[in-house]
Amino acid sequence: MNRLIIVSNRVTTPSGKGEETVGGLAMALAAALREYSGLWFGWSGKTVTEFNGHMNLQRVEGVTTATIDLEEADLSEYYNGYANKTLWPLFHYRQDLTAYDRSFDEGYQRVNRRFAETLRPLIEPDDLVWIHDYHLIPLAFELRKLGVKNRIGFFLHIPWPAHQLITTLPRHKELVEALFAYDLVGFQTPEYQQAFEEYVLNEADGVITADGLLRAFGRPLRTGAFPIGIDAKEFAELASSPRAQRTYDVMAAHTAFRQMIVGVDRLDYSKGMEERFLGFERLLSDHPDLRREVLFLQIAPLSRESVEAYQEIRARLDALSGRINGEYADIDWNPVRYVNRNYRRDELAGVYRAAKVALVTPSRDGMNLVAKEFVAAQNPNDPGVLVLSRFAGAANQLHEALIVNPNSPEEIAEALNRALSMPLAERIERWRALFDNVQREDVTAWRDAFVNALAATRSGDHARSAE
Ligand code: ADP
Ligand code: F6P
Repeated sequence: MNRLIIVSNRVTTPSGKGEETVGGLAMALAAALREYSGLWFGWSGKTVTEFNGHMNLQRVEGVTTATIDLEEADLSEYYNGYANKTLWPLFHYRQDLTAYDRSFDEGYQRVNRRFAETLRPLIEPDDLVWIHDYHLIPLAFELRKLGVKNRIGFFLHIPWPAHQLITTLPRHKELVEALFAYDLVGFQTPEYQQAFEEYVLNEADGVITADGLLRAFGRPLRTGAFPIGIDAKEFAELASSPRAQRTYDVMAAHTAFRQMIVGVDRLDYSKGMEERFLGFERLLSDHPDLRREVLFLQIAPLSRESVEAYQEIRARLDALSGRINGEYADIDWNPVRYVNRNYRRDELAGVYRAAKVALVTPSRDGMNLVAKEFVAAQNPNDPGVLVLSRFAGAANQLHEALIVNPNSPEEIAEALNRALSMPLAERIERWRALFDNVQREDVTAWRDAFVNALAATRSGDHARSAE
């Protein structure tokens, strides 16, 4: 078996204790690497005054990690800048929040070069190199310049936007051309894959060859859809662990067995939390009989706090939860419980299990693993109901959820009402189909599908055409 080198912006091996930064990528990669001999390379999350290229090698929970520190300027131009003020909002259809700044672009290229130069000596001839997410699109191009001839794959965890949208990005062609330094580029859904192909066919004179490769910029590229999953078996086990049971009991006592609706998201404007809060408010106003019978727990750990758009959404959610409670709360009942902290995985599993409904309503989301975790954590004899945005990649697989338009508080309120009154037999039927999918298309299936497809590409093609 080839050694696998995984590269992502952030490297976090979850201890499960809820102290580390959260996000779908970290959860999935830690699970994916567990049975593989290999290496996980990326940023340590720390900054130094001057970049020194020192690598910190560690072995944590069976995974070898190699991390580097970045400079303050890298953080503001690459991570907060090009990655999270330009690409993230644009790829999530928020052109209104997308900032273009030449220094972001330069910082992005510089950090990708730094990643390449530090990683280069660690790569051995037969290694498969698997690079993750929008922070590192140009990394293979930089590695090829340094003579790396290995097979290199890229997986995009977030959506690939519609053709017209990507053309609003200055130098969009260079960004797409950089993807042609890979042997395989993977997307979460066939829709994102098609949007990418459409761009290449229309903007870069691309063609699809007889063997299904996309050819443009003088190079061939294999693309594919590889929907990411969770470690469903482990998560289902976590949900019946003693710690999860304790959390469940505490929740049950505190909610006085009211029907709990739960949302769990990084505090990000792409997660549709404002419309969700408004949807819950609408439920209370339209259904006076449900007041005091329900409560909505929104868990939203803080994320990317230096970016203004994140500060703004935080302020709006603070105000909105306060307003709903001000309007509807009573001396012994608060309709909204809004918390910004991280939880251990087993506690989270207990929370999911105690909920009657999960609201997963992002305005756009590459996949959304919370939807899958909620399903895996349910009690098979009395499962909760998943309300899911049609714009989450997960909606492509989880058809038996109640699918909603996340921009419509009315639709969210209706789906909530339906979920809260759904007969047990229907809940069980829907849940079985959902769980079957979450179990079948789990994180191991995702990893194996991608790694096998990467191993099957013809190594060296790119190195040759770049020469
Ligand atoms: P994203 O990658 O955009 O953050 P996902 O839904 O795919 O979105 O992944 C989020 C991950 O972060 C999930 O594994 C979820 O359990 C985890 N997570 C979210 N909020 C918390 C929290 N408060 N405590 C612990 N883990 C959390
Ligand atoms: O899955 C999308 C993603 O951006 C990951 O790349 C990232 O690790 C996660 O969300 C959390 O974001 P951040 O690393 O910026 O805290």
